[in-house]
Amino acid sequence: MEVIDFHSHVLPGIDDGSRNIETSIEMLRLSRNAGVDRMIATPHFYADEDRIEHFLEKREHAYQSLIEAVRTENISDTPQLLLGAEVAFFDGIGDADKVDRLTIQGTELLLLEMPFRTWTDEDLLQVKKLIHERQLRIIIAHLERFMKISGNKPYIKKLMELPVTIQINAESLSDWKQGGMLIRMFQKRQAHILGSDCHGVHHRPPNLMEGRQRLEKKAGADILAEIDAYGCQLLGLR
Ligand SMILES: [Fe+2]
Repeated sequence: MEVIDFHSHVLPGIDDGSRNIETSIEMLRLSRNAGVDRMIATPHFYADEDRIEHFLEKREHAYQSLIEAVRTENISDTPQLLLGAEVAFFDGIGDADKVDRLTIQGTELLLLEMPFRTWTDEDLLQVKKLIHERQLRIIIAHLERFMKISGNKPYIKKLMELPVTIQINAESLSDWKQGGMLIRMFQKRQAHILGSDCHGVHHRPPNLMEGRQRLEKKAGADILAEIDAYGCQLLGLR
């Protein structure tokens, strides 16, 4: 079974994550040392700033430059990288052209970042379209951040009734306000997978392991095994 980081900004120079190849390599090293077997690279995609083709070209370029550097520096033991995107919700996303090209490599999984405002029924309708009409499997990025938004509670509840995968950021498990509630969500199978959402080495570093240790301490090792099994199943790894 693999330890998978489902949310990372590890690719160099493409978004507000890693600024350069050296940082990316250090992020890979830190992750590997912390026991991460596989990282999904999920640079931000904003439809109002970029076109999908252009984004994919930039992502490929960033990925190739990183892989090249890993090879040149002879770094043998890094987590396996898979390409994906953190797709920011936008109006009409359910009908948008080519949105399926932003899925995680080799899967129908789309990491979706919901809007940072009180959601609406229309937003949920768009998510339903992505699921039922576009046949995408939706992963909701760091759900906990949207739970803090005033008036969002009923919409969070409705979203969680849909067949979506809920991703939580590892560091949130230690948050004094939300941590306990998030651990209970994992215990109740209302939250499913973890991501570091790492952006660099010093600020927002790869910290999946701290979150996993917290979870193990509070809820037992079985939860981790379940998370890993769930993640592997999502990626079709078994
Ligand atoms: Fe992110």
